Amino acid sequence: MGKAIQFFSNLFSRAKRKAVLLGNKIPAHIAIIMDGNGRWAQKRALPRIAGHRTGAESLKSCVKACAEFGVKYLTVYAFSTENWRRPKEEVSFLMNLLSQTIDREIEELDKNKVRLRFLGRINELSQELQDKIDWAMKKTEKNKGLNLSVMLNYGGRAEIVDAVNEIVGRDGATKVREQDISAALYTKELPDPDLLVRTASEMRISNFLLWQIAYSELYVTDVLWPDFRREQLAEAIQAFGSRVRKYGKTKEQVS
Ligand code: IPE
Ligand code: IPE
Ligand code: MG
Repeated sequence: MGKAIQFFSNLFSRAKRKAVLLGNKIPAHIAIIMDGNGRWAQKRALPRIAGHRTGAESLKSCVKACAEFGVKYLTVYAFSTENWRRPKEEVSFLMNLLSQTIDREIEELDKNKVRLRFLGRINELSQELQDKIDWAMKKTEKNKGLNLSVMLNYGGRAEIVDAVNEIVGRDGATKVREQDISAALYTKELPDPDLLVRTASEMRISNFLLWQIAYSELYVTDVLWPDFRREQLAEAIQAFGSRVRKYGKTKEQVS
């Protein structure tokens, strides 16, 4: 009996959420700083890695929800250039989790036409992980559904430095324009994010997409990443729908 009530109440809130999102502006590109795995585990007296493991489920849920809501690009911060400073056991757990998640999810992602990218200083990862990443990117290269980009060993400053070095290394390069930098970033094939979500309350960027978020709408929630699922993503999209993006103009000019 309890189960049946739960089932219909879930169905109802799903339908309600869908109705609310219908007619809502849908961001073409959502970027997420997936934070709070450690705090989620700590609240439950579990080791930090339990938070990372459940966080992988949240990612799966958000990928499905993005496809359902019509979001074309989802870009997630999985491991920063600064995260190497963590205890080496945690770093190696995260690398293994990533590798296992690729193995476990690749067939379904491919079937759902997801195009998978891994962006960052990939050449600094283990050879085994690099090979797996190359394989997964190649396998999904022609897919035309959701563009899922996993930012790995990623730092916004490192990315800009890499871009500038690539440009100055070109023959006859003398002057750099904004579009030259955009076109040399790891994210060159992606539009700039419309919405940047950060879970777990922190009001900072932590070296994520420094160049690309110049005009992104910011949304910070107290929800910890392992608890952030379809419903919470829908809430973020709903909040985005009520923002007025002015790009420097006056309110009258954009309304
Ligand atoms: C985010 O959760 C995952 C990574 C940075 C890899 P954290 O592990 O940073 O969780 P908190 O911030 O300690 O709660
Ligand atoms: C940002 O989270 C990096 C990722 C989510 C991968 P952190 O937990 O590393 O950020 P800080 O250290 O709190 O700024
Ligand atoms: Mg954190």
